[in-house]
Amino acid sequence: MKNIYFSVRGTSNFSPPQTYLFNKIVETSKNIFKLFGYEEIILPILEEEAVFVRSVGQATDIIEKQMFKVTRNRPDLDSKMQIVLRPEGTAQVIRYYIENSLYKKSDFYKFCYFGPMFRGEKPQKGRLRQFHHIGAEAIGSYSEFLDAEVIFLSLEILDALGIKQKSLHLNSLGCGLDKEKFKELLKKEILPYKDKLCIDCQRRMEKNPLRIFDCKEENCQSICEKFSSITSQQYLCKTCHSHFKNLVDILKDNFGIQPFVDFRLVRGLDYYTNTIFEINSPFLGSQNALGGGGRYNNLVEELGGPKVGAVGFALGLERIMLLLEKIDILKTIDVFIATTNDTLIKEAVKLLISLRKENISSDIDYCKKSLKGQLRYAEKKNVNFVIILGEEELKENKVILKDMKRSLQEKVNIDNIIPLLKSKLKNV
Ligand code: HAM
Repeated sequence: MKNIYFSVRGTSNFSPPQTYLFNKIVETSKNIFKLFGYEEIILPILEEEAVFVRSVGQATDIIEKQMFKVTRNRPDLDSKMQIVLRPEGTAQVIRYYIENSLYKKSDFYKFCYFGPMFRGEKPQKGRLRQFHHIGAEAIGSYSEFLDAEVIFLSLEILDALGIKQKSLHLNSLGCGLDKEKFKELLKKEILPYKDKLCIDCQRRMEKNPLRIFDCKEENCQSICEKFSSITSQQYLCKTCHSHFKNLVDILKDNFGIQPFVDFRLVRGLDYYTNTIFEINSPFLGSQNALGGGGRYNNLVEELGGPKVGAVGFALGLERIMLLLEKIDILKTIDVFIATTNDTLIKEAVKLLISLRKENISSDIDYCKKSLKGQLRYAEKKNVNFVIILGEEELKENKVILKDMKRSLQEKVNIDNIIPLLKSKLKNV
């Protein structure tokens, strides 16, 4: 017996109908991005580690525990640079923006991107080691209207995919100075409880006390409860306070969105300033975030570019798939051509070629199945129509058209089959 191999833990193999769903999600998103003026970029999966260390933050889970480092069989040929599989897209988009001095060409950009991200998390439902982001970054503006557009855009994509039940959680961390003030106060308040925190939070306390709010350990949560009156909102300077207030008003007045303002919301990446948001689903269990994002007004400068405001988001494609998997709109083809016996395959191929020429997705049987077997196969493929070619009908230049969804059938003149199918397919 030879060894067989298995997928790496936390990775997925997509096969039909999941692949159709995957592509449908990407295509729907692309159409909406286009409507909102976001242009697609395709960036590499390999990236220099420092890009993420300096942006996502040294004291975050992603950097501390989850990076996949890439080594070659010829380390003697590699420079000292550490290469990783990208864990997220924002820092990379900014690296690309700065590397190409895009700020010299235009003061404002809207990018969208799709692709795999890698985080060495403990795999569970909705939490993978290789997953896909649908992301967007708008670079070059501090306007609250842009924050609102980005939030609205992420919700629009989910709406267009049929995900109606979801909640928007919104908070502001304030500017860099506000964040520092907030962190210092938290550190001071939590210090007496340091020994009761988990090992991770003890370390976080020094570098990034905000992350303690996000810890799932019971002890850490109950310590956080003691500080429920301390929120980032209290430390917002006048400008950041009015940015947040304006944003909430714009969301309500212009976009008809009523956010849940959640003063305890923090995010797992350090680059955020001001607006942060998450979109949750009630149907996803513990990994309930469908997406998240926010503003990162200091990141471009921190990575060596000019001081410009930016905001973006990413949706988790696999989590969207988990919600949509039950939808039965998935099908490979519209029409299946069945024959009453396999000697009619030449006639079937002739018709198949003309259907495909007319852009009607169609297929035939290549396995000499009985008529019953062919119909069963067509049903499994979820096709809308089956054309049955029978010797008797062909003598009259006719075929049988079976409407699989309505369980109706009719005899149709073979010359009329294409226009008839075209008009029927418009209504499915
Ligand atoms: P994030 O919250 O880390 O944000 O990821 C965005 C979404 O990706 C999450 O809400 C979740 O749906 C999905 N996701 C994250 N980790 C996993 C995982 N291990 N398995 C499956 N799905 C996952 C970011 O990455 C930011 N770059 C978003 C952003 C863009 N902020 C500003 N611009």
